[in-house]
Amino acid sequence: MKLAARAGRIVPSPTLSIAATAKAMAAQGIDVVDFAAGEPDFDTPDPVKAAAEAAIRAGFTKYTASSGIDELKQAIAKKLEADHGLRYEKSQILVSCGAKHTLYNIAEALFEAGDEILIPAPFWVSYQDQVLLNDATPVLVQTHEADGYAITPGMLTACITPRTKAIIINSPCNPTGATYDRASLEGIAQIALAHDLTIISDEIYEKIIYDGVRHVSIASLGPEVATRTILVNGVSKAYAMTGWRIGYAAGPKDVITAMANIQSQSTSNPTSISQKAAVAALNGGDAFPKQMVQEFDRRRRVIVERLNKISGVSCRMPTGAFYAFPNISGLFGRKHAAGTIASASDLTAYLLQEAKVAVVPGEPFGSASHIRLSYATSLDAITRGLDRIDAAIQKLTAA
Ligand SMILES: Cc1ncc(COP(=O)(O)O)c(C=O)c1O
Repeated sequence: MKLAARAGRIVPSPTLSIAATAKAMAAQGIDVVDFAAGEPDFDTPDPVKAAAEAAIRAGFTKYTASSGIDELKQAIAKKLEADHGLRYEKSQILVSCGAKHTLYNIAEALFEAGDEILIPAPFWVSYQDQVLLNDATPVLVQTHEADGYAITPGMLTACITPRTKAIIINSPCNPTGATYDRASLEGIAQIALAHDLTIISDEIYEKIIYDGVRHVSIASLGPEVATRTILVNGVSKAYAMTGWRIGYAAGPKDVITAMANIQSQSTSNPTSISQKAAVAALNGGDAFPKQMVQEFDRRRRVIVERLNKISGVSCRMPTGAFYAFPNISGLFGRKHAAGTIASASDLTAYLLQEAKVAVVPGEPFGSASHIRLSYATSLDAITRGLDRIDAAIQKLTAA
C-alpha cells in the first residue's frame, strides 16, 4: 500500500519499544532488570481509584464534552493558580488523552511546512517526530552536560531564522533530569518576545524535583510571556496515572480552540472515568507526589553513586524527573566477543544481551554518548541491575 509521506518520516517511540522488549523477555522467563520504563512504579492513589469506581457506578460512562468536563477544567485552573499564580478561564484549558496527545494537538494546530521549531537537545523523543509529522522542521539547540544542560539566549539566537515559529522547553527534562531556574527561563522568554516565538512548556515532571529546587512555570514570568505560552501538564507522572491517559494544555484562547476543534474531529473526549479520576488526583494536592519523590530521591542517590563508580562512566546528579543520564563515552573502543562499543546503542544492546539489563540508548534523545536509566524501580532492582552492569562493563577489554 502506498503510505503517506509523513508516515515514513517517523519511527516508533524507541522508549516504548525497549520497554516492550524487556517485558517480552520477562514473559519468556528471562530475569531482566528493567531501567527502560518511563513511569512511576507506584500504584495510583486509592482516592483516585475510588473516584473512578464511583464514576462507573454512577453511569458516568458516556461521551463528555470533547474538550473535557468543566469539573476537571476547574480543578486544573485551581491548581495552576495555586501553584503558579496563573489564571485561566475554562475556554483556555483543553483536556486530552495524556500530555503526549496534548503536545500532538499543539503540533497540529500550530506547525506547518516551512516552520522551524527549536528543540533544546537532549530532548524527549516525541517532540522531533511530532514536528516532522506536521511537515515542519525540528531545529535542535545543542546544550552541554558540562553546564548542566543550561540553555542560554546566545544558543537560541544562533538557531533563529525568519522561519522560527516556536520553542519546546521541558523542565524538569526527560532524559537529562535538568531543571531550568528562573534566570534561564527569563532568558528564554526574552528571546521569545524579541523574535515573536510561541513557547510550548512541557511541565509533566513538575512535581518530581529534588534538593529544594522550585519549579517555575515560564508562563508565570508575566502576562506578555503567558500570552505566547502553551503550558502542558498532566496527571501521568505526578499521580502514577500513566495508563489513565489524562493530560492538559492551558494557553491563549485561539490556540486552545483550534486544538479543541482538532480533538473533536479525532479522538473526541478523553475517557470519562479517567477525567473523574484526574479531578480527585488534582484536588488531592501534593501529599502523594511528595511521598513518591522522597523515595525517588533515595534511589536517585544510590543509582548515581553506583554509576559514577564504574570505570568509563560518569553521571551528573539530576535535579528533576526520575532518570539518570550517564555519559558512557569513556567506554568507546572497548571490545566484547561480538564487537566493539562505539555508541550508546552498542552499549544498550550489549547490556541487554550480556547482563539482561534494559536501558535506553541516548541516540533518540539526541546523544550517542549517554544512556538513560529510569530509577522508577525498586532499590533492590537498582542494586541488582547496577551489579550486573558493572560486571558486564568489567568484562569489556581495553580499547
Ligand atoms: C517529557 C515528557 N512529556 C510528555 C510525556 C507524556 O506523558 P503522558 O503520559 O501524559 O502522555 C512524557 C512521557 O514519558 C514525557 O517524558
